[in-house]
Order: sequence, then C-alpha cells, then structure tokens
Amino acid sequence: MIQISPSMLSCDFAFMGQQAQAMEQAGADMLHLDVMDANFVPNLTFGAPVIKCLRRVSDMVFDVHLMIREPLKYVEDFAKAGADLLTFHLESDSDPQQTIQAIRRQGIKVGIALKPGTPAQQVLPYLDQVDMVLVMTVEPGFGGQSFRPETMDKLELLHQEILSRGLSVDLQVDGGITNETAKVAAAHGANILVAGSALFSQKDYGKAVADLRNSAMSAQ
Ligand code: DX5
Ligand code: ZN
Repeated sequence: MIQISPSMLSCDFAFMGQQAQAMEQAGADMLHLDVMDANFVPNLTFGAPVIKCLRRVSDMVFDVHLMIREPLKYVEDFAKAGADLLTFHLESDSDPQQTIQAIRRQGIKVGIALKPGTPAQQVLPYLDQVDMVLVMTVEPGFGGQSFRPETMDKLELLHQEILSRGLSVDLQVDGGITNETAKVAAAHGANILVAGSALFSQKDYGKAVADLRNSAMSAQ
C-alpha cells in the first residue's frame, strides 16, 4: 500500500487549518510538516507553536520533518505540539542514537532522513531502531525542485536491506514527487510519498491524491 503525505510547505499559509482539513477530505494518509531553521538549510519555515495550533483543527497523523541543526534539543517541544512521527536528519549535529531514544521516550514514531549525498550505509546501524527512513529526492530547503534520479540506488539498497532483515521500516521519499516520479520511487521500494507542489497546484485535491497513489501503485 502506498501512503500519501502532502507537504504543507506548498499550502496557502493564510488558510493552513482549512488546507489541512481539505487534504484529509481528499484522502491523504498523513500531513508532512517541514520545519526549517535557516541554519541546517537556507530557509526558515515554522516551529512547534504552529504545529500545536494545527493540532487543534486536525486529527491527522502529523509527519514532522525536522531540517534543523540540533533536533535533540527540540524533541519534547515537537512531541508536545502533536507530532506523531518525528524525522530528523542524520547529517544534523545531534547524536543519532540519543535522538532516537529521546523520540521513543515521547511515545511517538521515529524517522531518519538522508540528504541526496549521504550514503545508505550510514543509516544501516539504526535501521532496526526506526519506523521510517526518509530518502530525500532533492536537497532539503525548498519545495518545487526537480526529482534526483540518482537517489534511487540508495532507496533500492535500503529496500533490499529491510526485506532481507525482515524489518517493517517504511521508506519515504520527499522532493519533486509527481505522478511520473512517484512510479520510479515506488518501483524502488518507497511506500510513503511526500508531495507539495504537485498536490497543492491542483484544483481537485481528491483527484490529485488518488492519481498520485494510483500511479505509484501501478509501478509497485
Ligand atoms: C523540501 C521539503 C519538502 C518539500 C517538497 O526540503 O522537505 O517536503 O516541501 O516539495 P515538492 O513536493 O514541491 O518538491
Ligand atoms: Zn519534507
């Protein structure tokens, strides 16, 4: 099964709550919330206070993608704000082991994200301790970039490793996902697709979510 996680980075922030509800109505499985600190990435978005407000108007699974220098320091803030799945970057300054444990202590799911240039081998020691690996298919920082096909070897390697170890770890892709690139990612083992511009640019969100899911499932 393919799950769809719309990236709120592409929503109209004047109507963030309504846009989240619209994506739920459209059949999205979770909401992808991109937190950027203008340090780990050259862009600044929103933090825990905004997520806390959104939590009041949505019961959806909150898939929070931390693109921040020191995720460990903020684990509790984001968990309290309502994150259900908290993903941090392996390239951040926080110790991965400690960060995984801190997220687990909050009773929520853990994800580790890899930038396009980070080899899959670096996440292997943590594979049996996480719920999800996020393979970035663009350089983190901005929506609307083009999908990087060279990240697919890494996705495939992780997919095979998960299968051979008998683990139930989700594989998420994020960046440049369209009906076409969704097929490529699904064929290499992705089962959670993040999409910002490809979904929010459409008039009919229900059709956009269904088309994306169907096109990925046709390639699985
Ligand atoms: C980029 C973010 C993505 C972004 C995806 O750093 O992590 O979640 O919003 O946007 P699209 O789907 O437009 O590439
Ligand atoms: Zn993201």
